[in-house]
Amino acid sequence: MTDRIPTPDSRPPHPAPGATPDLSSRNPDWWRQAVVYQVYPRSFADADGDGLGDLRGVTRRLTHLAALGVDALWLSPFYPSELADGGYDVADPRDVDPRLGTLDDFATMVAEAHRLGLKVIVDIVPNHTSHQHVWFQEALRAGPGSPARDRYVFRDGRGERGELPPTDWQSVFGGSAWQRVPDGQWYLHLFAAEQPDLNWEHPDVRADVRTTLRFWADRGVDGFRVDVAHALAKDLDEPLRDLGAPELSREGALADFPPGTHPFYDRDEVHEIYRDWRKILDAYSPPRMAVAEAWVPGERRALYARPDELGQAFNFEYLQAPWDAEELRQVITDSLATARAAGASATWVLSNHDVVRHASRLMLPPDTDENAWLLSGGRAPAVDPDAGLRRARAATLLMLALPGSAYVYQGEELGLPEVADLPTEVLQDPIWEQTGHVRKGRDGCRVPLPWTTTGPSYGFGAGGAWLPQPPSFAAYAVEAQDGVEGSTLELYRTSLRLRRKLLDGETLTWAEDTPAGVLQFDRGDGWRCVANLSSVPVSLPAGEVLLTSSPLEDGRLGPDTTAWLGR
Ligand code: GLC
Repeated sequence: MTDRIPTPDSRPPHPAPGATPDLSSRNPDWWRQAVVYQVYPRSFADADGDGLGDLRGVTRRLTHLAALGVDALWLSPFYPSELADGGYDVADPRDVDPRLGTLDDFATMVAEAHRLGLKVIVDIVPNHTSHQHVWFQEALRAGPGSPARDRYVFRDGRGERGELPPTDWQSVFGGSAWQRVPDGQWYLHLFAAEQPDLNWEHPDVRADVRTTLRFWADRGVDGFRVDVAHALAKDLDEPLRDLGAPELSREGALADFPPGTHPFYDRDEVHEIYRDWRKILDAYSPPRMAVAEAWVPGERRALYARPDELGQAFNFEYLQAPWDAEELRQVITDSLATARAAGASATWVLSNHDVVRHASRLMLPPDTDENAWLLSGGRAPAVDPDAGLRRARAATLLMLALPGSAYVYQGEELGLPEVADLPTEVLQDPIWEQTGHVRKGRDGCRVPLPWTTTGPSYGFGAGGAWLPQPPSFAAYAVEAQDGVEGSTLELYRTSLRLRRKLLDGETLTWAEDTPAGVLQFDRGDGWRCVANLSSVPVSLPAGEVLLTSSPLEDGRLGPDTTAWLGR
């Protein structure tokens, strides 16, 4: 609101590798090595006791984030929504869902976050709206051929009476990506049927998202996470192209197409959109940051992170890498190289609201079918929670030592495992219904957080929780770990504090002569990270042991353990 509009030249250049990062509040590059905590608002903290987390709940618990030592919080959508897809079905992108609070509650939350030194990032969902959005309702009423329909992707069907979908495109959540409306036309939805895709060739669509960016930036928001950033531009020229096989609708199928030519993913034209947004974001002081959710391969992903576009993109290759030293080393090396080539900072993430929590996932043997594992209630194969936690802690210390920005997902600081045995009758993720009960979906990582060891919903709220918490959550509660030496919460707090002190430039140098199964690298001046992914203890190099993810074994680094060393 009070932001000074800087001239383009007033931005300092990005720091050269080797320069000491500055996380202070006016530094325009604060995000390059920030640790960002993802809040999934419906599952974080419930102030009004209705079973659904809310903004006042977030505000009350901001001291937890400040004490943890993160730099920013990213809020998944809190906008008005019927929750057909956990809030990613947005009915109004410039308001707060009444069940989650009001715009005043949002202002209070931002002010309190800033007072505590925390930045605030919000999620924007530009690829689609909710079917309850006024535009879509207008489009339904206005009928075929109307300008209102042109803001979305409406088409006549194929077949004698138009009874077949316009193309063979599949939804990410399963089944056809087309839904028929009563007058016979079909509309495109790459996700749930309640999430019609917008037509990004339409000027209203472009203008509206600009308004949304300014709306939240004017309210003090420091950055944006851009949902499915790679899907906005689509080849909508007639006739629409069939893909020929259902799997070619998947994000993983991009390799089957010359880069930039898939009909709806990662098209070259999408980058014009982000160059346009960057001008808006740079008109604020400090410029607002942005991070792309783009499930596309490394070099193509880096394009979204160029300085004249979003600046950062989530590194899903890191998240998807198995717990294997060689593979991780390759992913880390490639990620740093592609980020650097694009002028971006690298990002690292192990868990979020769409994937199996890493305290469970990293224990699954490579090639495990995660959906089959979830359908087995987490029993085939069984995961030992203690072994999973040990590995997760090692993975976290490794991640936090990497140059760039790390994204942590609520509850991982408590060591929460996936709730793999949610009974199917409580599932809320549209994937479950839309696949005809074939894919169990993502609810197991969205179970509300335990804050206390007793009480209804373990301190999440005064009432119940919208997804049932298992009794094992009591032992993971903040209350059970606060101040307890060796707890996962204290490990996160200590490591984040130490990381701030040790951060030095954006470079990483792999150490020579490292035993098999061990990752070992130096960061700047006197900070070495050693991660033992092998099954035997290894000796540590010389240096002061600053922190370990599990106690040393006779002075040696045990399996699934990471150490940070100083000089
Ligand atoms: C993103 C979100 C996911 C959501 C989808 C559709 O992938 O992370 O939760 O279902 O977009 O908006």
